[in-house]
Amino acid sequence: MSDPYCLPWYLADPLESAKPAATRPFKTIPHERCVMSEHHISLTVDGETESLTVAGRTLLVHALRDHLGITAPKVGCETSKCGACTVSLEGDLVKSCTVLAVQADGCSIQTAADTDHPLLERVRDGLHDAHGLQCGYCTPGMVMSTADLLQEADTLDEDVIRDALKGNICRCTGYTNIVSAIEQTAVALEGSESTATPTGQDDGGDD
Ligand code: FES
Ligand code: FES
Repeated sequence: MSDPYCLPWYLADPLESAKPAATRPFKTIPHERCVMSEHHISLTVDGETESLTVAGRTLLVHALRDHLGITAPKVGCETSKCGACTVSLEGDLVKSCTVLAVQADGCSIQTAADTDHPLLERVRDGLHDAHGLQCGYCTPGMVMSTADLLQEADTLDEDVIRDALKGNICRCTGYTNIVSAIEQTAVALEGSESTATPTGQDDGGDD
């Protein structure tokens, strides 16, 4: 028979639920029975492989920030709305507040702080030069979404850029400078012929 202390009171004894609340015994669950499962995982973040132990419920964004000290992904909403936590997971953009750390076990993750990626550097510089940030809280997510856009889009105009950024919320700048920063970066990249596959390529130095 299952241990009644591991079950809610109404499952431990269904007849109890039929009694008036005042007559139900109050059961407490011993603390040692409430321990979450722990998992040993490994993540390769911005080229560095790290091993860590996380609870099954730990979100990827918390594993990165709290366990590994990688604070580029920000926690804005934790409900998949703001995009501040955006990272690349095995080449796909994800909101890291919607991924469990254990789901990313063995995966390669890229954040906006990756210093070995020429395109990310160009995007960061572009936002800086065009004043495309104010407090900077949304910026890591904007950087990741912009880099993805610049790699994937066949054509770029304001509508395409705004559509690509609709999962990233900025509370400060009103997007005008962000959009023009991306347009300017795209033009600069076109000039240096670096738009197609930026990883591992020379960034051109055409500033
Ligand atoms: S913190 Fe992940 S989308 Fe807002
Ligand atoms: S610059 Fe402050 S939220 Fe975007």
